[in-house]
Amino acid sequence: MTLKKLSVSALILTGLNFTCFAQNTASLAISNDSKLTISKHIYGQFAEHLGHGIYGGFWVDKSLPVAKQDRIRLDVVAALKEIKIPNLRWPGGCFADEYHWRDGIGPTEQRPRMVNTNWGGTTEDNSFGTHEFLQLCSLLGCEPYIAANVGSGTVEEMSKWIEYVNSNSTSTVAKLRKQNGHPDPYKVTFWGIGNESWGCGGSMTPEFYSDQFKRYASFAKNYPGAPLKKIASGPNSDDYNWTDVIMKNIPDWMMWGISLHYYTVPTGDWGHKGSATSFSENEYFETMVRCLKMEELVTKHSAIMDKYDPKKHVALVVDEWGVWTDVEPGTNPGFLYQQNSLRDALIASTTLNIFNNHCDRVRAAALAQTINVLQSLILTDKDKMLLTPTYHIFDMYKVHQDAKYLPVQLTSPDYVVDGKKLPAINVSASQDSAGKVHISLTNLDLHNNITISTSLKDIKWKKVTGQILTSANITDINTFDQPDKLHLINFTGAKKDGDNLVVVMPAKSAVTLELE
Ligand code: AHR
Repeated sequence: MTLKKLSVSALILTGLNFTCFAQNTASLAISNDSKLTISKHIYGQFAEHLGHGIYGGFWVDKSLPVAKQDRIRLDVVAALKEIKIPNLRWPGGCFADEYHWRDGIGPTEQRPRMVNTNWGGTTEDNSFGTHEFLQLCSLLGCEPYIAANVGSGTVEEMSKWIEYVNSNSTSTVAKLRKQNGHPDPYKVTFWGIGNESWGCGGSMTPEFYSDQFKRYASFAKNYPGAPLKKIASGPNSDDYNWTDVIMKNIPDWMMWGISLHYYTVPTGDWGHKGSATSFSENEYFETMVRCLKMEELVTKHSAIMDKYDPKKHVALVVDEWGVWTDVEPGTNPGFLYQQNSLRDALIASTTLNIFNNHCDRVRAAALAQTINVLQSLILTDKDKMLLTPTYHIFDMYKVHQDAKYLPVQLTSPDYVVDGKKLPAINVSASQDSAGKVHISLTNLDLHNNITISTSLKDIKWKKVTGQILTSANITDINTFDQPDKLHLINFTGAKKDGDNLVVVMPAKSAVTLELE
């Protein structure tokens, strides 16, 4: 019996209106037949030396009237701890391949200054360096993920950075860390070997980069208690040849993961990306088509990886993703400051559903870029801060971190605009260690509520609760005047109906349900 027939009979049995099924009804089946875990590292974040992400975001002026530890802002730390961010990638991005770690240690006033050539030509004073970053990660309770400089650095420089951070020996470089105030090794395991080596990281061919990777990786040493997870610079979007060459040339034991970068650009035109706050339904639709491309990218890159690594030793690490719009009018174009709407929240929920459903291969990811840059979780204005709609999605989705993946089968109605269609509903599900089942649903349709009839095979449950993020308009945002316009509220649109779960998903909403 097909899934659709099952749902039809379930609806007939429960007396629900059949005519409603034809138009605005989806059917969903969830099973617990899986041994896979959704890695918490899928929920990672990225913070580059770019605009007001680090400086003015995490790391603020001593005179700013907010609670701080050294110069780390504690209100943003508390907000990020609340959503349990599992890792933080740093220092770039493109900045990583012009960053020289020795410039960022020792007495602050003696640190050299440099020009941030990628991002606005600002003067980087190196006051936020290795120790400050690792202190931040310790406050956040998250794992650091350091991207090492391959493009303009040397093997020696990267190798010594790892030794500086992780070695407990009496070597000169390990002693230097101790002199600089950290007697114990930091034990950082996530290391990126370059960033976008096909572009700002050195404009390399995949053949050349694979040789470089092997050279650098050979001198990226494990120190006690810190076995490295080396992550190769992976493809740009749909550059499948890059993945093929890297997977062919680099043995799987040498790399923990290969990265993938893909941004959702609303118009698809990098010259005019589209506004973050003002867009038509047509543009929203096209944006969602581009967002859903992540499904195709992950599927196709994974298939190439399967050819060389059928046992899936190597992770696909989507360590830059999110919506990239035009900057807010009047702001520095090099600072990538953009507002964040309900649309962006639905981009986040949809993308996280894709990652959850591909957790066999996608075992880490990082949204770009945490505070004040691109698709942020937090925006700050001097001593004020606000949580973006995207933040609330990460809050709802934290229940999936390290939970058992539950396979889903969905038949969704289409969301149709000007005769073009995309699936209105997307979903992922998991079961936590206490046995609670969490189902995350997104309805991309701007106009229609959709009723979803769900069968849960071999899953016992008695009660359903949930949370929802939605708003009157898809362009709605949180502002410093109205910082709480979009926030999570309790969701009452899900009911137990016999063994079935029936959910009425409001238009343009994201919901996470808890079944216990
Ligand atoms: O996230 C902004 C930039 O996008 C990063 O620096 C780079 O890696 C990518 O091109």
